[in-house]
Amino acid sequence: MIKIAVMGHGVVGSGTVEVFYKNRESISKKCGGDVDIKYILDLRDFPGLPYSDKFTKSFDDIINDGEVKVVVEVMGGLNPAYDYVKRCLSSGRSVVTSNKELVAAHGAELLRIARDNNVNFLFEASVGGGIPIIRPLSQCLAANSIDEICGILNGTTNFILNKMINDGMSFDDALSLAQQLGYAERNPSADVDGFDTCRKICILASLAFGYHVYPDGIYTEGITNIKLEDVVYAKKLGYAVKLIGYAKRISNDKIFCATYPALIPFSNSLSTVDDVFNAIMVKGDATGDVMFYGKGAGKFPTASAVVADIIDACMHINRRKSIFWEDAKKDYVIPCEEHETAFYVRAKCDLGEASRLFGGVKTSPAENGDVLFITPVMKEKDINAALDASGIEIKAKLRVMEQAV
Ligand code: HSE
Repeated sequence: MIKIAVMGHGVVGSGTVEVFYKNRESISKKCGGDVDIKYILDLRDFPGLPYSDKFTKSFDDIINDGEVKVVVEVMGGLNPAYDYVKRCLSSGRSVVTSNKELVAAHGAELLRIARDNNVNFLFEASVGGGIPIIRPLSQCLAANSIDEICGILNGTTNFILNKMINDGMSFDDALSLAQQLGYAERNPSADVDGFDTCRKICILASLAFGYHVYPDGIYTEGITNIKLEDVVYAKKLGYAVKLIGYAKRISNDKIFCATYPALIPFSNSLSTVDDVFNAIMVKGDATGDVMFYGKGAGKFPTASAVVADIIDACMHINRRKSIFWEDAKKDYVIPCEEHETAFYVRAKCDLGEASRLFGGVKTSPAENGDVLFITPVMKEKDINAALDASGIEIKAKLRVMEQAV
């Protein structure tokens, strides 16, 4: 019998326990032997549940019980999750987590501790909720050199942008609706300021390219400054505005990685990802483009990924899985200024003045005497220098993913 502990009984934690008990028989079969939850750690009381007897308020019960071989961390946040997870791994337990903040901030260290203690640290649920992406990247696509990843990784912002694109809602109205429907948190900053997407693309880039990419080391821009008129103009020009996490191999020891809203051409499948869905495009040198699509959040989709990792951890007691990345390398992520992209620009100037920019760009007139144009693909610093030198008044500027996977 393998005994496990679940730390946290919030949305994902309770979903995990429910899915586990619903399918315990088949889960045990897949693990090759009986598996049960011995402890559920939470400071709150949950009377009346069929498994109420398993609750404890003390982490010591778990760490001091030699029978517990796998610990599931679904508390979220860094404290006390980071300390608890380190102690579980150091004491020879495998850990499964859905905590993207923890993996993005401390993944390299926790993977090293797991390796040193011959246990596993698994985090399929940390990116894309129920969408399989961590295991495909580390196993199914392992033969490839990954060149590029571009993902819609946050359901809340995708919902908001879709309401702006399809229903002409303002950002504020779409955010209120997302809150009413329970998608966005009351404090929606992690979603709308891009931090959630940033953490997820950092995890994917670390896994794909082999070195830890820290969230505070990449450019992160959210969607709070997006104007409805630019979403509408982008649509007329053939693009959908999406918040993306983007990572690209530049050379063997340099990558680009960032989070920002971007114009995605309607010819690219990412432009069609609606509602709260997530999608991740991965370009491998052998596979070409591969797309992963599904529900990126929610109690049961996320619990599905957590329970899959529990099964994997139970199947690999005393055996290591190959998920690993090294600690960060200095100057590994190139700055935005060195990154090559095109920009959509809305400027206050006359059409002739705009069309002479960049050796001639196609322009479109917009309301209030504004002009729209899309720059050639150039280093961001060169585009910015040219726009500064022109002296025209820039009213909006968004990257265009002409080249992305
Ligand atoms: N707030 C996140 C989202 C939840 O909207 O996608 C999943 O990480």
